[in-house]
Amino acid sequence: MVAATQGGEQGWSSRTAFVLAAIGAAVGLGNIWRFPTLAGENGGGAFVFVYVVCVILIGLPMVLVEIMLGRAGGGHANAIGSVADVAEQSKVSRKWSIFGGCEVLAAFLILSFYSVVAGWVLNFVFISGADFFGSLFSGAPLAGAHVGEPQEAVTGLMGELFASPWRMLLLHALFMATTLGIVAVGVHDGIEKAASWLMPSFFVLLVLITIYGAFTGDFARALAFLFTPDFSRLSPTAINEALGQAFFSLSLGSAALITYGSYVGSDVKLAPTAGMIAAADTGVAILAGLMIFPIVFTAGLDPSAGPALIFQSLPIAFQTMPAGALIGFAFFLLIFFAALTSSISLLEGPVAWTIDTFGIARRPAAVIVALASFVVGVACILGYGAWSDVRLLGFWAIFAETDILDTIDGFTGKVMLPLAGLGLSIFAGWRADRRLIEAQTGLTGGAFLLWRGLVAWLAPFAVFLILIFGLFPWLLG
Ligand code: PFF
Repeated sequence: MVAATQGGEQGWSSRTAFVLAAIGAAVGLGNIWRFPTLAGENGGGAFVFVYVVCVILIGLPMVLVEIMLGRAGGGHANAIGSVADVAEQSKVSRKWSIFGGCEVLAAFLILSFYSVVAGWVLNFVFISGADFFGSLFSGAPLAGAHVGEPQEAVTGLMGELFASPWRMLLLHALFMATTLGIVAVGVHDGIEKAASWLMPSFFVLLVLITIYGAFTGDFARALAFLFTPDFSRLSPTAINEALGQAFFSLSLGSAALITYGSYVGSDVKLAPTAGMIAAADTGVAILAGLMIFPIVFTAGLDPSAGPALIFQSLPIAFQTMPAGALIGFAFFLLIFFAALTSSISLLEGPVAWTIDTFGIARRPAAVIVALASFVVGVACILGYGAWSDVRLLGFWAIFAETDILDTIDGFTGKVMLPLAGLGLSIFAGWRADRRLIEAQTGLTGGAFLLWRGLVAWLAPFAVFLILIFGLFPWLLG
């Protein structure tokens, strides 16, 4: 079979390798930074409930669609080629591959700001690391970051970073270079190896910090916050955000899963694998909530602090906790690991396309894409300083106030990912050859009908609604 040789010597060495890499792609800043932030801003339980419903009914079926399209795509590792190939095998227009193109472009754009934010994480890895090792050697108690300093000083750490474009630039460069270094080596020796080290380390740290939070923090209140839905606090915008977050978190609509799917051997059953990816991703998001909110509540911080929750509130909380310096360091290291396996998958999609399209080798392709994405990231950084007045999509009400980074984040998340999802759900649900798809998914009977029903009916309908209401919120009154 074609699929078994896809990616040539570049394929995954085992199913486990694929699962780890795909979970690595899914689990990232979206789970640990974005999800708790959104849950906190939108009242907790009700948001979590809607999010989980979106993942089960739309996200999970779409994960299977993307991996399946990748493997079915006749030896193309890139999202455009894969969709075009499946279209050809199904005897329909190759133009459906335009949605694959939308995915490659989205991945490129997301990578640019993702690397900037991951650079902020690195900043705190260094600061908390210095604190931890400093206190080890000085014999000072393992209290948190910047022991003895007033809270404003810790809050100021974030401000200091934002006021220093050079520092952000350096950290962004460092993170992008690390991602590039891994992708340039290849699927087997680079991506797969990185995931097989980083993901287990990530899970160990996650479980340890959650247990720590359960014992030292207000765990009961966190549980109540995350699992007692108060539907009166659920605005239409929140539903909208929940669905968008499901796409972002599962790495849908951004070429990663199609590309990773193209390296999967024909013997792997895709449906259970898709289930594992969605379950792990959602589990980590909820565990991250259970890790962060006990600490937030104990320290008397505001759960709806927004994006500053992780970078500003938590360092303050760590300051007051037993062994806080160690926990702070472990916490930021964990986020860094998660971000790295995700950025690798963001880079791999456009790199696979560049290799296929221009017939160049992996290394130069990886360097070109990473450099170009780095440059877009630099614009995001300038958006915090010299270019703070720039409004890329200022004519559009929902982007009228957003800086460069938030505009790219918002445009990809609210427009591009759902658009690609919409197109591919219609393609897979209505246009692609049914027998080809059935064979690829490995689903039979009622399970296949249920999956196809969700993909053909529910996903296009629901995603269409997010697009419309996300882009034109005034329609909701
Ligand atoms: N899923 C990643 C996260 O939750 O952080 C982000 C991401 C990775 C989005 C890869 C898209 C992608 F292709």
